[in-house]
Amino acid sequence: MRITDLEKTIGTFHMEVDDLYIEPEKIHGIVGPNGCGKTVFLKIAAGILPPDTGTVDYDGLSPRDITMMFQRPYLMHTTVYENLIYPLKIRGIRPDEEEIDRMLSRVGLKEQKRQYARSLSSGERQKLSFLRAVIFKPRMIMVDETLSNLDSESEELFAGMIGEIQKVRPVTWLIVNHQMDHICRLCDEMHYMEKGRFVKR
Ligand SMILES: Nc1ncnc2c1ncn2[C@@H]1O[C@H](COP(=O)(O)OP(=O)(O)OP(=O)(O)O)[C@@H](O)[C@H]1O
Ligand SMILES: [Mg+2]
Repeated sequence: MRITDLEKTIGTFHMEVDDLYIEPEKIHGIVGPNGCGKTVFLKIAAGILPPDTGTVDYDGLSPRDITMMFQRPYLMHTTVYENLIYPLKIRGIRPDEEEIDRMLSRVGLKEQKRQYARSLSSGERQKLSFLRAVIFKPRMIMVDETLSNLDSESEELFAGMIGEIQKVRPVTWLIVNHQMDHICRLCDEMHYMEKGRFVKR
């Protein structure tokens, strides 16, 4: 993915990205202080928010291949299971029930399969949101702080799962964090943001 001559103004906030190359099939970390524009950048990169000017070249990927895990995960008013299979449903893919049970067990949500999704704890919501992002095997996954609030055990779990995905069918990851934490150990490349711009460190 290449982003060129991008500009976006929202109120008093201004973003400018002259040229940023995101190498495919690698894990990219985006780090910067609160309010520097990480979420705005991800939304533009994911095609959710239009830039004022500039281009995002997806290198042949279509919106169907891209998914975003939001800072505040949106869960539908239904069960864990229904939330999980939603991305498959809208793409007309039949859920593989055994695989779903395996995934849920892996993150410790098997018992909660029929539970109302919005009654999950915040860590559990993040786990569900992660599974929901990877379940349809997207080519690019944008993660907005979703993994920055986890206990160390869950952090290891996600690091392991991401590592496995990269071995089998590499995905381009854009992982946002407001601080360098453990997840960033995973990153192949780091990008630093300050006040709406990418800066060298
Ligand atoms: N819809 C909006 N209307 C007005 N200002 C906005 C809007 N969306 C974002 N902003 C402003 O743009 C700036 C960048 O916001 P953004 O959410 O991208 O920050 P962030 O780097 O993700 O911060 P955090 O680490 O707190 O999540 C902020 O100053 C924010 O207030
Ligand atoms: Mg943010």
